[in-house]
Amino acid sequence: MQNKVLYSVTGIFQTPDSIKHAAKSIADAGYKRYDINTPYPVHGIPKAMGMTISKLGYFTLVFGLSGIALALGFTWIITNIIYPLVQGGKPFFALPPFIPITFEVTVLLSSCGTVIIMLLLYFKFPNNSHPLHDTNYMKKVSSDKYGAYIMADDPNFDQSKVRSLLESLGAIDIEDIYYDEETVSLRPKVFEPKFLGFLLVAILITAGATYFTLNKLLFMPPFDWMSFQSRVNAQSLSTFFPDKHGMRMPPSGTIARGFMPFPYEGDPDKAGKMLVNPMTNTQENIEQGRKQYDIFCSPCHDWHGTGNSRLRGQFPNPPSLHSQKVRNWSDGMIYYIITMGQNTMPSYAYQVSREDRWAIILYVRTLQRAMNAKPEDIK
Ligand code: HEC
Repeated sequence: MQNKVLYSVTGIFQTPDSIKHAAKSIADAGYKRYDINTPYPVHGIPKAMGMTISKLGYFTLVFGLSGIALALGFTWIITNIIYPLVQGGKPFFALPPFIPITFEVTVLLSSCGTVIIMLLLYFKFPNNSHPLHDTNYMKKVSSDKYGAYIMADDPNFDQSKVRSLLESLGAIDIEDIYYDEETVSLRPKVFEPKFLGFLLVAILITAGATYFTLNKLLFMPPFDWMSFQSRVNAQSLSTFFPDKHGMRMPPSGTIARGFMPFPYEGDPDKAGKMLVNPMTNTQENIEQGRKQYDIFCSPCHDWHGTGNSRLRGQFPNPPSLHSQKVRNWSDGMIYYIITMGQNTMPSYAYQVSREDRWAIILYVRTLQRAMNAKPEDIK
């Protein structure tokens, strides 16, 4: 016999009513470190013991929130950074399709996390040598008796007082439980090398068996990285098409994203009628137009559109953009002139992007209004 340490004093009760009464009396006597054991759930025991709602729920909350953060972060990184692909015109990070993923990961993490925390913190897993194991007390309360025990580490613990309390409550069998400090540990053994080693071996065996089953028995590649898929790189030879061209012409009639066709060549009137400026008159857009106008138009048309060219006779001076004719033109008409040119003015389709052309038109309209300001404009 090595050092035997007192773990608790146990008492056996005969009826559910007496154990309920005992639970309440022990709680009323001010004990905190005690427990009740019954062979089946007895209603009213938690209330009699004065138990509050378990704090386990907070762990569930933390795991659930981590699940939300993990799923949203993961999908955000995948769709914005790793594979920013346009799918069906949706924004890169479209929330609705990722709700199921977020929901699943939240439920998965919170349920698994709750069970693991319960096992580790509350049940002290992987510690399987509880001092009450294999005692007569445990055998009785597992079959047909009801038991209460008060632990020796309770601040109010006094062996003789506890014994007389249990006696006065009607306990039939009062027994002191001792345990061997060397073989029974009351602390969890999660971080002990033995358990960690066991965990590592278990993980290796599971991973190895999975790999072997999938790869060797079912001939499935277990790790199918997206970056190693078969594909044709740009500018490379194709072994598939008879003409060996890896890059294919798009089918006729294909319209690239963001590039609306311009079917008005030679028909400025139709362009003027059909085209509408897609940009709105915001300060930001006008500023964008001013920049582009100053770069591309002002050398000939002058900073303010008067036609007073800075090219000093190297190029015919254009007419003023403030004529009644140009002021009456639709935005589409000016867009047509920038895109196709007009007589001596060349096309600016290759220098100025579509968006910039529309922004320039906003700025030209601003100049026109400034040059023909009415008294109402300064109000
Ligand atoms: C190389 C000089 C030059 C540049 C740069 C230039 N234009 Fe012109 N622009 C002209 C000339 C010259 C005409 C007159 C063409 C003609 O004879 O019909 C003209 C005509 C026009 C007209 C028609 C005016 C009218 O009354 O018929 C518009 C509108 C116009 N330009 C807008 C622009 C815009 C917007 C830009 C900037 C993207 C621009 N131009 C850049 C030289 C230029």
